[in-house]
Amino acid sequence: MTASGTSPERFRVGMRLTDQLAAGEGDFTTFELVGKEWDLVPGAYPPRPGTGTEWYTRTLPYPQGGRFLEIGCGAGVTAVWAALHGCSEVVATDITESAVRSTERNTARHGVRERVRVVRSDVFDALDPAERFDTVFWNCSVFEAPEDFEYTRDVEWAIFDRGYQALGRYLATARDRLVPGGRALVTFNTLGDIGRLHELAAGAGVSLRRLAASPPRRLADNDVTFMILEILPEPS
Ligand SMILES: C[S@@+](CC[C@H](N)C(=O)[O-])C[C@H]1O[C@@H](n2cnc3c(N)ncnc32)[C@H](O)[C@@H]1O
Repeated sequence: MTASGTSPERFRVGMRLTDQLAAGEGDFTTFELVGKEWDLVPGAYPPRPGTGTEWYTRTLPYPQGGRFLEIGCGAGVTAVWAALHGCSEVVATDITESAVRSTERNTARHGVRERVRVVRSDVFDALDPAERFDTVFWNCSVFEAPEDFEYTRDVEWAIFDRGYQALGRYLATARDRLVPGGRALVTFNTLGDIGRLHELAAGAGVSLRRLAASPPRRLADNDVTFMILEILPEPS
């Protein structure tokens, strides 16, 4: 497989990260993060300390008393945390079955099953188009894969996005799911192609405003900074 159309070096970093995550698969069915224990169905993205999940989960501006939609919920840490920290209702989606099952287990484990609905969905596709949220959020897959990339392991969905197609769709339509005054958020980090991110935003007719950035960290032997960005309606 080649990385044509994407940066070969960036693609290699993504593959190394994927291999590191997959190497631990099956080793554990629980993990600890943000001071709690979580279930993990093998295959789902295991958010270890130092990955973005921990920082995003603690940093996000959750809508108090409001409805929170998380795209790409993985093991469900952020979705459960949202329900435990002021959101009245949470909808959590993921494209992989292992993530959906992990999140279901974690909503039960943490006593929020009644307020977190988990849906298997490709971005927004399986949701009712009329449903509205106070905050829509995706900790997206930041490595661009070639258009012909074939996913063979669930965890690859957490790292790679073919031609950034899913991210492009998210940027173009996330604001359509908001109540008036609601906020659409997306994460990115410095291992991804930030130039392409802004091109995608321009193509989607939106702009991105940085809300928060983490202190520098190390991930997959690289320096990385995590960012939370708000999707604004006007192009820059
Ligand atoms: C970087 S991981 C984040 C997982 C989790 N939210 C966390 O912070 O640990 C990205 C997640 O998005 C999911 N994903 C990738 N493409 C998707 C798509 N087209 N629709 C929905 N979810 C997707 C992946 O399966 C993965 O769980």
